[in-house]
Amino acid sequence: MTNPAQRLAGKVAVVSGAAVGLGQAFAERLARDGADVLLVDLNEASETAARIEALGRRAVSVRCDVSDPTAVEAMAQQCRSAFGRCDILVNNAGIYFMAPFETLSFADWKRLLATNLDSTFLLSKAFAPGMKERGWGRIINLATNSIGLIAAGMTHYVTSKAAIVGFTRALATELGEHGVTVNAVAPGPTRTHGTTTGLPPGVSFDEVFSALAQQQAIKRGAEPSDIVGAVSFLASDDAAFMTGQTLVVDGGWWRV
Ligand SMILES: NC(=O)c1ccc[n+]([C@@H]2O[C@H](COP(=O)([O-])OP(=O)(O)OC[C@H]3O[C@@H](n4cnc5c(N)ncnc54)[C@H](O)[C@@H]3O)[C@@H](O)[C@H]2O)c1
Repeated sequence: MTNPAQRLAGKVAVVSGAAVGLGQAFAERLARDGADVLLVDLNEASETAARIEALGRRAVSVRCDVSDPTAVEAMAQQCRSAFGRCDILVNNAGIYFMAPFETLSFADWKRLLATNLDSTFLLSKAFAPGMKERGWGRIINLATNSIGLIAAGMTHYVTSKAAIVGFTRALATELGEHGVTVNAVAPGPTRTHGTTTGLPPGVSFDEVFSALAQQQAIKRGAEPSDIVGAVSFLASDDAAFMTGQTLVVDGGWWRV
């Protein structure tokens, strides 16, 4: 029997947006589970790579804009050269910013959809055929609980993530009989590079997030370590019979 702590031994994972934040935590957790990891980000993911190598696993960092089809194809080629394949894809790279609909520009709408949604299409397109051919694969997409708890100023973001949930359900239908599952994880507000640097001057993460947490059943702000277990589970054989689903991990705020 496989050691449960190494349930992804021999697998290769690709994690987008892996330089910081949730992507860094997912990459590290998958490595802890035994996988080697290709780290994809606009920026060098050297800190993430060092953490993975310290666990005795291989990490290769590739700089790539996941919204750019040519860059994604080149990255997929680098993955094939370095590891031969991708078994687990975590479509995590994403951006978010508040903008009331009235002032939201078409350029910002397209930029956000390209980063969050087009990237999910492009990376899945690059790696799903190999998973299907080998008869085993996991695609895990990042959604958000804000598709159910819709705050003002988020039309662009909520649209991108609701589309990702639809994409997840639809692609699962096409890949299910080939041993490839497609699921999503929908976190609530979580302490990351993005959420701690995107706040207005003078506003602290702890202040905002402990106020938001009062809406949750579990009344504390989330850390990336609260979310990684869901990704680890969906990547594992324990989740082999689960596909097309969205796991909400938000301390019991949005009850689906
Ligand atoms: N943190 C939260 O509260 C929260 C809640 C729900 C969902 N999410 C989702 O989780 C994901 C990660 O969020 P986070 O808070 O860790 O973000 P973050 O800003 O801390 O990190 C995002 C990473 O993605 C990379 N990235 C951005 N655009 C890219 C591009 N075009 N190509 C390649 N890499 C790119 C960035 O360089 C960065 O390393 C996002 O999809 C986000 O929407 C986050």
